[in-house]
Amino acid sequence: MMDMKTKLAQLQVLSGHAISQFDTSDVPDTPQELFGQWLDRAIALDVAEPQVMTLSTIDAEGEPDARMVVLLDVNEQGWHFAASTLSPKGQQLGTTPRAALTFYWPDLAQQVRLRGPVLPLAAEASVADFFRRPERSRAAILAGRQSEVLETPEDLQLALRWQLERLSAEPSLIAPHWVLFALAPKEAEFWQADAGRHFTRLRYRRSGEQWERNLLWP
Ligand SMILES: Cc1cc2nc3c(=O)[nH]c(=O)nc-3n(C[C@H](O)[C@H](O)[C@H](O)COP(=O)(O)O)c2cc1C
Repeated sequence: MMDMKTKLAQLQVLSGHAISQFDTSDVPDTPQELFGQWLDRAIALDVAEPQVMTLSTIDAEGEPDARMVVLLDVNEQGWHFAASTLSPKGQQLGTTPRAALTFYWPDLAQQVRLRGPVLPLAAEASVADFFRRPERSRAAILAGRQSEVLETPEDLQLALRWQLERLSAEPSLIAPHWVLFALAPKEAEFWQADAGRHFTRLRYRRSGEQWERNLLWP
């Protein structure tokens, strides 16, 4: 039986089939625009689930935490995602409204890193996001208790059934704890490995109303 270390050493990394050069002399003025270009390419090349990202937060004790979430939009307010304010991540963002987002697209050997403050979007946007979700997802959100200990699977089935009944009696029910957030980066880094394993890194840093751009040592 192969040990873990040997097994891991045999796996490939940065082996993407669509690796290209990153021409940093010809990039847009904002990280939003460059992200849009990179995402378009990821979609065109069928990168699996390129809208999934790691959201890293800090808890009340100053300990880091991280999990995957789905990117819902990108605009001048930042990178948008939805979460429950009652969940650990929601509580953490309530206490420390700063976070990091990280993307990795293996086929392209690209990484994007963002850091900055996180703010809730307007309440109407959160309500609209809640309503666009299928009934079962809305029932799960209404049931809440995310990341609490589940004593038995039956407890969950019961809670979901109860919320589905509530929803069929009152389809306009909303979950006030379901919130859209935007991370407005102070820093955004675009990282590209090429076929020769040279790493090109470009960082945008907020400077007043402008973005300052720098290359970084690999
Ligand atoms: C691919 C993927 C996408 C996910 N998207 C979301 C999301 O958009 N919002 C969310 O609250 N949880 C999402 N989750 C679940 C979270 O990763 C996490 O398990 C859950 O939100 C509880 O996190 P917390 O205990 O840190 O609050 C997703 C998980 C995966 C694997």
